[in-house]
Amino acid sequence: MASMALVLTICFLGFFVPAPSLALSSNNNDFLRCLSANIPSQLVLTPSSPSFTPLLVSSIRNARLVAPATASPPLCIVTPTNTSHVQTAVRCGRRHSVRVRVRSGGHDNEGLSYRSTTPNGQAFAVIDLAKLHAVHVNPHEATAWVETGATVGQLYYRIAKAAPGLGFPASVCPTVGVGGIISGGGIGLMMRKYGLSADNVLDASMVDANGNLLANKKAMGDDLFWAIRGGGGGNFGIVLSWKLRLVAVPPKVTFFKVAKTMEQGAVDTVTKWQTLAPTLPDELSVRVVIQKSQANFQSLYLGNCSTVVATMRSRFPELGVTSADCKEMSWLQYTAYIYFGDAINSKPLEELLLNRSTTLGPFVKNKSDYVKKALTKETWKKIFLWPNGAASGQLILEPHGGIMGRIGAVKIPFPHRSNVLYNIQYVELWNGKEVGGNATPNWIGSLYNFMTPYVSKNPRGAYVNYRDLDIGTNQVVDGMTSYGSAKVWGESYFGPENFRRLAEIKRKVDAGDYFQSEQSVPPFPLKE
Ligand SMILES: Cc1cc2nc3c(=O)[nH]c(=O)nc-3n(C[C@H](O)[C@H](O)[C@H](O)COP(=O)(O)OP(=O)(O)OC[C@H]3O[C@@H](n4cnc5c(N)ncnc54)[C@H](O)[C@@H]3O)c2cc1C
Ligand SMILES: *[C@@H]1O[C@H](CO)[C@@H](O)[C@H](O)[C@H]1NC(C)=O
Ligand SMILES: *[C@@H]1O[C@H](CO)[C@@H](O)[C@H](O)[C@H]1NC(C)=O
Ligand SMILES: *[C@@H]1O[C@H](CO)[C@@H](O)[C@H](O)[C@H]1NC(C)=O
Ligand SMILES: *[C@@H]1O[C@H](CO)[C@@H](O)[C@H](O)[C@H]1NC(C)=O
Repeated sequence: MASMALVLTICFLGFFVPAPSLALSSNNNDFLRCLSANIPSQLVLTPSSPSFTPLLVSSIRNARLVAPATASPPLCIVTPTNTSHVQTAVRCGRRHSVRVRVRSGGHDNEGLSYRSTTPNGQAFAVIDLAKLHAVHVNPHEATAWVETGATVGQLYYRIAKAAPGLGFPASVCPTVGVGGIISGGGIGLMMRKYGLSADNVLDASMVDANGNLLANKKAMGDDLFWAIRGGGGGNFGIVLSWKLRLVAVPPKVTFFKVAKTMEQGAVDTVTKWQTLAPTLPDELSVRVVIQKSQANFQSLYLGNCSTVVATMRSRFPELGVTSADCKEMSWLQYTAYIYFGDAINSKPLEELLLNRSTTLGPFVKNKSDYVKKALTKETWKKIFLWPNGAASGQLILEPHGGIMGRIGAVKIPFPHRSNVLYNIQYVELWNGKEVGGNATPNWIGSLYNFMTPYVSKNPRGAYVNYRDLDIGTNQVVDGMTSYGSAKVWGESYFGPENFRRLAEIKRKVDAGDYFQSEQSVPPFPLKE
């Protein structure tokens, strides 16, 4: 019932109305026939196949997204084993007016890689890239080509095995896909030293909106190569592989963890953390997870325990870090430890990091903000005491500074650079059977409203990889998304200047708006 109410609200607001010209069902059979001419039938699953639903939901960890995904499922899921299959899917889709959504790791926070928010809307197909996950490391060049169906865990593992001493800056969660995360930027605990994942892309290959293969950045041209490095997934084409610059990691890195309750001074330490963490040595990231009125500080230091304890003692004595709080390990062990914890002692890293299956968790809704001016102690006190109600809330604060502040805001589409102190991710988790089903309980919404005066504004920033449909969705007129209405969310993710450039590039490379979703970049209007 609650989910129905949500859907109705979205429809009545007139958002994302399906394009009438694309809704013809006779096209659907022609589309499937077209696929079968070039793609082996076992690689195309339709809802009549017993494997269809298990595959559709295989990457979903958020219970909020399961029902909407299965209620209006895609026409089919294509699981390419070859570039030419991806080209065929796009060409057939163009020819028969069936849109495609592409899925890499499937971790999109709103599920846009495999679901449409319009029930009974136009048919679409999913291209699931999971079978294209090769990683080729060149240790001498310190580069790697990775296919976009690979997960971050697969990438980390292959790099470390082929080239000990090298690593790559990306997410904490190993099941995130390199297709989505690099398309949207890619933040993680090495970004203060090495930047975003997308800052370390040297080249790429992709299939464009005509189904043509663009084998490298030269074939794409500077604009398109700029756009795909942080301009958001699902907008400009289907990236098949990235060439990455690998980064140096020492033989041992250090993790430490310190928890502070409010009685132990959590409010004061977080208040100080805001301006301190962005100015620590680039090799050190200290992030904070706030939950149940407790602050948990977690770090990655690219060096040994004794050095980081000395640094913390002089720069942040209030945190009281001692060598007993430290764990030294290899970078690869760290990538597993930060997510799986002590399980790394009982299971081989290979098993943990190469495993791409996910388990269905609770209902989740996430939002994000950027902070440029430190919040006061009084404000933090209110946040720590914000009532959770029946849900459970979490704030994850990721420090910027370091090289993040030295890279220009228009170098790639990701705009949140100098002046940013840290990113906030709001995470609300609930048990849908007990509370509200798909309708999000109001911890996150009320806190987000409360935060308005304290976070970045004009526009209020958000991180595209923490996708949030509440900040705005596309309006579709005659099958085309509109730039004017997309600005609302687009300028939050990319800033006004980058968003305009993204739309201009979209006009050049996908004027017919084939790659379209609730939050896809619209083609810049010919006359505004
Ligand atoms: C548990 C969890 C932890 C996370 N941790 C982090 C983190 O530490 N740092 C961080 O930056 N983000 C993090 N994220 C967010 C994550 O980066 C984004 O959700 C990202 O978009 C997921 O990529 P994916 O390939 O797994 O997702 P998908 O759902 O497959 O794709 C996401 C978007 O990109 C598009 N896309 C996918 N593949 C391609 C491709 N090959 N070419 C073009 N477009 C493509 C999709 O159509 C969709 O629009 C996390 C998310 C989750 C759920
Ligand atoms: C991929 O398809 C192309 C064109 O059909 C073919 O030439 C090539 O051999 C295929 N590659 C693989 C690895 O199957
Ligand atoms: C929200 O963020 C948390 C923490 O990063 C993550 O575990 C979760 O999967 C995210 N989920 C969604 C749906 O956004
Ligand atoms: C820790 O690293 C520092 C700086 O690289 C080095 O001088 C020191 O010897 C190391 N200490 C230990 C215990 O390894
Ligand atoms: C892979 O991960 C899933 C989900 O977390 C888990 O259920 C499964 O046991 C794991 N498989 C292996 C081989 O570790």
